[in-house]
Amino acid sequence: MNSTVLTNLRIPSELLPSDGRFGSGPSKIRASQIDALISSSTHLLGTSHRQAPVKNLIGSVRSQLSELFAIPDGWQVLIGNGGASLFWDAATFGLIHKCSQHYVFGEFSSKFAQAVRLAPHLSEPIIVESPAGTVPALKFAQDSQVDTYCLTHNETSTGATMNLLRPARPDDALVVVDATSAAGSIAWSANEVDVYYFSPQKGFASEGGTWIALCSPRAIERIESIAKSKRWCPASLDLSIALENSKANQTYNTPSISTFVLLDEQLKWMLNNGGLPWCVERTTTSAKYLYDWAEQRKFAEPFISDRQFRSPVVGAIDLVGVDANDVNVVLRANKIVDTDSYRKLGRNQLRVSMFPAVEPTDVQKLTACIDFIVEAIS
Ligand SMILES: Cc1ncc(COP(=O)(O)O)c(C=O)c1O
Repeated sequence: MNSTVLTNLRIPSELLPSDGRFGSGPSKIRASQIDALISSSTHLLGTSHRQAPVKNLIGSVRSQLSELFAIPDGWQVLIGNGGASLFWDAATFGLIHKCSQHYVFGEFSSKFAQAVRLAPHLSEPIIVESPAGTVPALKFAQDSQVDTYCLTHNETSTGATMNLLRPARPDDALVVVDATSAAGSIAWSANEVDVYYFSPQKGFASEGGTWIALCSPRAIERIESIAKSKRWCPASLDLSIALENSKANQTYNTPSISTFVLLDEQLKWMLNNGGLPWCVERTTTSAKYLYDWAEQRKFAEPFISDRQFRSPVVGAIDLVGVDANDVNVVLRANKIVDTDSYRKLGRNQLRVSMFPAVEPTDVQKLTACIDFIVEAIS
């Protein structure tokens, strides 16, 4: 449809959500986080990350994460620069001993598998793959040489979520989970996982460029034993260096302090409101609004057909007989942004993030806006 017609289409103000940010990361940052950033501007921003004020801030983030996820004694919260993508490389050097198994069901899970495939010091990874829109069944080999199982809690590219389970094996194989878009929004159990890693620009409404990994004592043991083996590892990717720095509430090199201010404020908000169960209830409520709406419309259909795998945080909705690009153009012209489908998926689809910062009523209002647009352009 003619783009001027689309950009001139005004959605009635009573239908508009209170906030139009529905991106899957970077995602909505709440106003009180920005207030916290402004009040941190004289004593934190622009000050040394090796001095007490910033170290205390990082300490507060680490302890609030431990509380939010109720991680058992002996676990450590590791922090470093570079985001979850960098963590894949760090894990390739310092977590996988020799052989990993990867559950691949979209772009992000496939990228980690590819990083491992190219690593000359590791053997060919074992890939269990299923098509976009599905979730591979866990097939843990009981007697295999696999020392690290690589799972993804929420495939952001497709909006599919995986149930996290540890294989029943008597040995020390690790379960390493990419939780980049799930963390803080979907429940999980520390009994089933050894490493739960993510970036803070999604469920934690902060900014990109940092990775955070919650590590079990078994994972710490693995990091330390690989480090002792003297296998070559660049210092910026060395998890044993990240571990030592994190214990001292520091990062190996200079972090983005504003990222930690925003993250700290979001964690306070989550914990004050009831912690992870409250966050999960919020995302579940939002997701119910979105998927119920899509199921009731002739022009919409949830991309993930099996309900148990539908993500409560990243909802992918296929459109039928309406161009999703046209809908997105009108939404953006009305200040509702980042509802585009994952670029490489190539579907006629909307993708809506429902992280805890997003008001469930805003998800409801978004669906009313889409109804209005479809009616207007059909
Ligand atoms: C599931 C998942 N893993 C990893 C990443 C990469 O994160 P980053 O861009 O912070 O490196 C993303 C980014 O969207 C993601 O959604």
